[in-house]
Amino acid sequence: MDLLELARKTRENAYAPYSGFKVGAALKAADGAIFAGCNVENVAYPEGTCAEAGAISAMIAAGQHEIAEIVIVADSPTPITPCGGCRQKLAEFAAPEVPVILAGLDGETVRTTVGALLPGAFSTTHLDAH
Ligand code: THU
Repeated sequence: MDLLELARKTRENAYAPYSGFKVGAALKAADGAIFAGCNVENVAYPEGTCAEAGAISAMIAAGQHEIAEIVIVADSPTPITPCGGCRQKLAEFAAPEVPVILAGLDGETVRTTVGALLPGAFSTTHLDAH
């Protein structure tokens, strides 16, 4: 199963009763292992988590720390883009040139990168310079 297909399938398991907006994400780690996540909402709205966060948690739990590629899928006419928080989470585990593929359920697919999504990301260089 490729990343796009896995993200679509995982999206079906999303728990999104409040927004009705299901999102799926699938990523490949640097060692080739594949992980997926979906959004998990909560009646206390801020406690909900994004699909990207779920996929990253699965990767970290398996002992991997480097994203090689990620696909994010939602049911929208034009592909969605990750929220600001998820852009920062991606930047923690992916180099700026890492591809991010954004897709709807069918039709348009947009290819971008972690660096393009979050230019000038806060990073360890800022901590080191402190
Ligand atoms: N959501 C994601 O899971 N990923 C994104 O990139 C954007 C938004 C979720 C959060 C919430 O459960 C729902 O989509 C509506 O914002």
